[in-house]
Amino acid sequence: MELSILTISYLIASVTFILGLKMLSNPAAARKGNLVAAAGMTIAILATIFLYEEDGQKLGNYGWIFGGIAIGGIVGTLAAKKVKMTAMPEMVSMFNGMGGACAALISIVEFNHLLHEYNGDMSAHIPTLVIILLGLIIGSVSFAGSMIAWGKLNGKIKDFVFPGQHLLNIALLLVILALAVYLAGWTPAGASYIFYIIFVLAVLYGVFFVFPIGGADMPVVISLLNSFTGVAAACGGFLYDNKVMLTGGILVGAAGTLLTILMCKAMNRSLTNVLIGSFGGGAKAAGPAGSAQQGTVKEISLSDTAVVMAYASKVYIVPGYGLAVAQAQHACHELEKLLEAKGVDVKYAIHPVAGRMPGHMNVLLAEADVPYEKLLEMEHANEEFASTDVVLILGANDVVNPAAKSDPSSPIYGMPILDVELAKNVIVNKRSMKPGYAGIENDLFFRPKTSMLFGDAKKVLQDLIGEIKNL
Ligand code: TAP
Repeated sequence: MELSILTISYLIASVTFILGLKMLSNPAAARKGNLVAAAGMTIAILATIFLYEEDGQKLGNYGWIFGGIAIGGIVGTLAAKKVKMTAMPEMVSMFNGMGGACAALISIVEFNHLLHEYNGDMSAHIPTLVIILLGLIIGSVSFAGSMIAWGKLNGKIKDFVFPGQHLLNIALLLVILALAVYLAGWTPAGASYIFYIIFVLAVLYGVFFVFPIGGADMPVVISLLNSFTGVAAACGGFLYDNKVMLTGGILVGAAGTLLTILMCKAMNRSLTNVLIGSFGGGAKAAGPAGSAQQGTVKEISLSDTAVVMAYASKVYIVPGYGLAVAQAQHACHELEKLLEAKGVDVKYAIHPVAGRMPGHMNVLLAEADVPYEKLLEMEHANEEFASTDVVLILGANDVVNPAAKSDPSSPIYGMPILDVELAKNVIVNKRSMKPGYAGIENDLFFRPKTSMLFGDAKKVLQDLIGEIKNL
């Protein structure tokens, strides 16, 4: 009876994971999707704690289990409440690393069970051993890699590159695989030592794998490591024959892989290019800003900007990484409401990789209560620019760089961009002529339709609001 309730609970949990994931793909439903999946996870955890039995025995150890849940729950809640929007990728990385560590710990515990249960003779349990080793290697790489990514994103760890690093990484990986095959295929006498050597080497590999990758490429790597954690958790599901763990692991693995592919596509880069790092990495792709002067830059005053925008009939705002840095989302929403009150149609054009993490701009604007229907995806926005009076670019750079279309030698050539130049007027707000993440000049700033409005996005928006109110 209890077993069937357990199975039904797992089924319900698996369905909520799938539904939750589906809802996460739409900003309006994403919050609910998260809650739905979390509710499913709670059901699965409680059902396992209270209903799972092995040889007629319940799990027990309730003090340890609920003690762990309480500590993890409190730390997680406080961290999530405190985190700043710009620090979100590093928090995701830290949480992901914990998942990888759990998977590796499961493998260590289960390896010791196997070893003691069969007095060192594991030859009859090779499939189990293979799964244990896979969980150990993938989980350890994900844990160590995520910790390095976390340190790099919060500035505690600097990029570390030395000649032959990629070759060393490949050699390390080959040694790990060879030792794992030897252990599983021959189950030698010193299996325990080999197992822990594999563990240490996998941790080292995780560290060296992430070290050379440029800080700004971290979101792609975190997404890749996320998929590793999913696969490692699925190994745990196999080991315990636990369907919900298996389903959850596979979903995380698949979602992480798809997200990695989508991000690479939106930046027009291959995964190898991200991992070997040619832009966003240590070496910048182009010379310093201003090295190739392309014409004159036209500046616009705040009062002129106020007039142009207040008397426009259609305005598009293009948010970018600088908007997040300035934390100007609330001021931006205020400007939008003010213009709307004056009869201007205001919308936002969202590039899929604007910012530094997937959905960065959507989350940022949602924080300021910008209605979802005001956010247009790139393809749709590109159709609208020709009939737009003013495009106001706030702290965006690479995602509006026309070199992506016109300059085959540019590192961002082929990256889809927002065709802001189709609009009648383009106003760009940033603090200087410095390049964006890709480290390259932006010819848009020198084009005749473009005017530069220099300054910190938040200050500029607040002053602009004041100017418009005084009109
Ligand atoms: P960027 O090209 O990085 O440009 C941001 C601009 O914001 C900079 O040029 C900077 O110029 C300006 N800025 C910074 N602080 C500001 C402030 N306080 N006020 C006003 N402006 C400020 O950003 P983007 O256009 O959003 O493009 C994103 C880039 O990141 C793309 O190349 C993309 O491929 C890459 N990337 C994205 C992701 C994901 S998943 N979204 C992941 C990895 C990499 P100043 O310094 O002159 O102010």
